[in-house]
Amino acid sequence: MNTSDWLRSFEATSAAALAWAPAETPTLDDLEKVRLRFLGRSGELTELLKNLKHLPLEDRRQFGPRAQSLKARISEFLERRRLDLECAQDLSTERSGVDVTLPAPPSGRGRLHPLTSMVSEMTEALTLMGYTLAEGPQVETDWYNFEALNIPAQHPARDAHDTFYLKDLPLLLRTHTSPVQARTMKSTAPPLKIVCPGRVFRRDAVDASHSAVFYQMEGLVVDRGVTFADLKGTLEVFMQTLLGSATRIRFRPSYFPFTEPSAQVDVNCLLCGGRGCPACKQSGWIEMLGAGVVNPNVFRLVGLDPATWSGFAFGIGVERLAMMKYRIPDIRLFYENDLRFLRQFDEDIV
Ligand code: DAH
Repeated sequence: MNTSDWLRSFEATSAAALAWAPAETPTLDDLEKVRLRFLGRSGELTELLKNLKHLPLEDRRQFGPRAQSLKARISEFLERRRLDLECAQDLSTERSGVDVTLPAPPSGRGRLHPLTSMVSEMTEALTLMGYTLAEGPQVETDWYNFEALNIPAQHPARDAHDTFYLKDLPLLLRTHTSPVQARTMKSTAPPLKIVCPGRVFRRDAVDASHSAVFYQMEGLVVDRGVTFADLKGTLEVFMQTLLGSATRIRFRPSYFPFTEPSAQVDVNCLLCGGRGCPACKQSGWIEMLGAGVVNPNVFRLVGLDPATWSGFAFGIGVERLAMMKYRIPDIRLFYENDLRFLRQFDEDIV
């Protein structure tokens, strides 16, 4: 074959290859036929390339690269069409039996459990005032749950904590979040300002206002020169942040072994606006938390000198606050996971 014959067939092949217009919906078979026609073992282009060797060196140099690039263009084009086709076939019901192009059914968006958002809100109200988060174990020792809080064995205050003890182990399920106070005071040098939310456990009979598992949040401040006035100011701001600026609080004398003096803190009843209703037993006030000035005995028990350090502490029930805030009449609703209840709290997960 001489150069001019070769060139003639090259031009004819190029024209044929470039003129090949795929059918509107080519099949894989169509593509394979085209591939064989040009690129098969005795395909038109393959033959041309084979014949190159009969041309003079000069001509080979000139036309060889053109033939190679035509080959590359055709095979690239065919390969791309083949991938498109395979992809389309996978998507079609023909092969998989599933039409993945159908819109998916709407998926429900998750939301936070009302207690989770209540705990975050309460924690944030205090972290804004400079408190840091502290946590402790739910399975506790008698020492941290009671002894370190000035509640020795046989102390009558233990009666109020119907405790779950672990079988054959000197451990219990913490009955309040106060042991986190003792743990933190032992592990971290004051000054301290901590907030400790968490789950607590009591062997209470379950009813509309009692659950054997519930949440508390503890606050503790230890520094030099802390007074009861600091406690009052802190709790007023805390309650107003959570329940609105019109919220009023009042202190009633009380007793806790780990604080002296101690107080029960009430807030004005949101349900009746203070006029009196069954929820507040007609008093206009609802008991919300326990609080007081840290008992010097507690400081001694955790190894701090009460002559140097002073502090206040408070403990608040999370469910009770949430019930008040969202007007929820029964604590069990928090633990039944009834979607009709949970869906009312439509804060999306952030
Ligand atoms: N730990 C108490 C309870 O569970 C609540 C409490 C009262 C916590 C007074 C305190 C406090 O820190 O000062 O009943």
